[in-house]
Amino acid sequence: MLHFKTIIEPFRIKTVESVKFTERADRERALVEAGHNVFLLKGEDVLIDLLTDSGTGAMSAAQWGAIMQGDETYAGSRSFYRFRDVVQDLTGFRHVIPTHQGRAAERILFHSVLQPGDVVPNNNHFDTTRANVEVEKAEARDLVIPEGRVPSQLHPFKGNIDLAALERTLQQDGERVPLVMVTVTNNTGGGQPVSLENLRGVRKLCDRYQKPFFLDACRFAENSWFVKSREEGQADRSPKQIAREMFSLADGCTMSAKKDGLSNIGGFLALNDDAWAERCRNLLILTEGFPTYGGLAGYDLEAVARGLEEVVEEPYLRYRIRSTEYLHERLVAAGVPVIRPAGGHAVYIDARGLLPHIEPLAYPGIALVNALYLEAGIRGVEIGSVMFGRQPDGSERAPAMDLVRLAIPRRVYTQSHIDYVAEAVIGVAALKQQLRGYRITKAPAVLRHFTALFEPLAA
Ligand code: F0G
Repeated sequence: MLHFKTIIEPFRIKTVESVKFTERADRERALVEAGHNVFLLKGEDVLIDLLTDSGTGAMSAAQWGAIMQGDETYAGSRSFYRFRDVVQDLTGFRHVIPTHQGRAAERILFHSVLQPGDVVPNNNHFDTTRANVEVEKAEARDLVIPEGRVPSQLHPFKGNIDLAALERTLQQDGERVPLVMVTVTNNTGGGQPVSLENLRGVRKLCDRYQKPFFLDACRFAENSWFVKSREEGQADRSPKQIAREMFSLADGCTMSAKKDGLSNIGGFLALNDDAWAERCRNLLILTEGFPTYGGLAGYDLEAVARGLEEVVEEPYLRYRIRSTEYLHERLVAAGVPVIRPAGGHAVYIDARGLLPHIEPLAYPGIALVNALYLEAGIRGVEIGSVMFGRQPDGSERAPAMDLVRLAIPRRVYTQSHIDYVAEAVIGVAALKQQLRGYRITKAPAVLRHFTALFEPLAA
């Protein structure tokens, strides 16, 4: 019997979409027009788009087929019940509230339950999660384990929350903590997983201090695969069994179906508490829509329902995690500093480590992102001083890391695309001495990374 080492894409391609090749001079012009902010580029000027893994995946033939079955009934649509049943089968939560994407679930939950001055502990809040906490005048407190803050340090579950720090927060500020959150996988900290053991620890603390525990479950299936492959005693369980246990430890979750829902749009808030659910539904009606569609079309609900079934399939997850790891291996072999080990949905380059001659507040991440676009037509995203450096009081402080994330859309790019990306990153890293920092010329107060304009600093 042959034993294969190559893990192939577990699909064949039925529909294709051309990518546009551009010259360096074209990209230079496009970047200037975009104020040196790759968020402001036209998508068609990008060759390989690794800006995000959110909503950018390819849907399956089964999902497109289900879309044709969408029931657009305003109230009580059949598609809602199919969606609800799939979410309940997976999560076990009593109330399932569809939303148009993850941040809508966050906004509805936080606006319904937070008071000014409250504290929300999390391993790491992602940008919209943090912003939705802070807009309620509450504090988003990041309590990831110390290993999670050091790019080069190996740890199988670098996304774990520091249980001792969480207990201190619950002891000292318990009255101000309406809920505890954990993000799986930990996007801000490098797409790193959280162990079941850690989630059990959170559950115990939440029981002791009588706090509800919510998962930010955007990448729950990728987290399940890491648990299966890294956590003792989990190898023989299916990703779905592991996912169910993760959800069973929590009281609710927010979810962006644009990630592990394998859909282009969609999300949900799911929870057990009746009173909170009622409050959230009332706000949902005000801003998203009736509780059986929550800002989505019936056909979107069908796509998400099918996506949630496909995402826990083993061949898919094996390929998914391996293809990210493959890119990671190539960069590590070439000496490019990256967060180790590989994350689930993305490879995170340590821009501060690669470009020590660029001060954190001259944005080494932006320097690297822009060079990758200019040299290779690849779009990544800065996760560092621009995204997280602005404090609520308006001052600027560099966060723990300046990273560039190369997020891999699900089921979109093939191995040759990934080989090209590896070649490009290694080539740009070799040019590092030529890269310069940037300054911001214009930026909004909140979530500034999306629309800020930059100017390169003089050599
Ligand atoms: N939570 C996490 C951990 C996320 O990564 C995201 C989105 C959200 C919540 C919000 O979900 O976009 O559907 O409103 N992250 C995307 C990214 C945008 O690029 O990582 P959303």
